[in-house]
Amino acid sequence: MVLDTELGIDLSNKKEAEYIIKDKLLNKPDYSKLYYIDHKNLKAPIASGSVDIDAMLVVPCSMGTLARIACGISGNLIERAADVSLKESRRLIIAPRETPFNQIHLQNMLSLSRMGAPIVPCMPAFYYRPQDITQLVDFVAGRLLDALGVKHKLYSAWSGS
Ligand SMILES: Cc1cc2nc3c(=O)[nH]c(=O)nc-3n(C[C@H](O)[C@H](O)[C@H](O)COP(=O)(O)O)c2cc1C
Repeated sequence: MVLDTELGIDLSNKKEAEYIIKDKLLNKPDYSKLYYIDHKNLKAPIASGSVDIDAMLVVPCSMGTLARIACGISGNLIERAADVSLKESRRLIIAPRETPFNQIHLQNMLSLSRMGAPIVPCMPAFYYRPQDITQLVDFVAGRLLDALGVKHKLYSAWSGS
């Protein structure tokens, strides 16, 4: 619903969802390592701690999902995979998107941060004078890659002057 409202991407046809996401959302020629899994599919491999994954990012993370992850309520695949990441002591990075925050949001972020999950909000910087929305998005994406330890050229680091 959010994708449809914000980007005009309609995923109501589940059979076409993977194709639509790869075609419209992921502007990359090589899709071989990208998979779409429905969030209701609790039988997916990432729902099990026996499957070794390096890291998980929740981007953007709604305040509802944030709350359910912080409380260990695993009602869908996102929440279950995040729960698995925490129980297996794997890297879990949360990118909340909301403004303003209420005390419940702040407490939930503090809880997850204390559990070792970095909170990397969808909050761009302005020192590099972004010229368009892509540059704002690239900055946030770059900060998330930084949190993963992945090298990138999505934005230039602050040079000090
Ligand atoms: C177009 C649209 C944009 C939304 N953006 C946000 C958002 O940025 N942050 C947020 O916490 N909730 C946002 N919401 C509300 C959540 O989608 C809603 O609270 C939902 O129940 C969250 O559940 P989920 O985490 O399972 O997606 C948005 C809703 C709509 C329709």
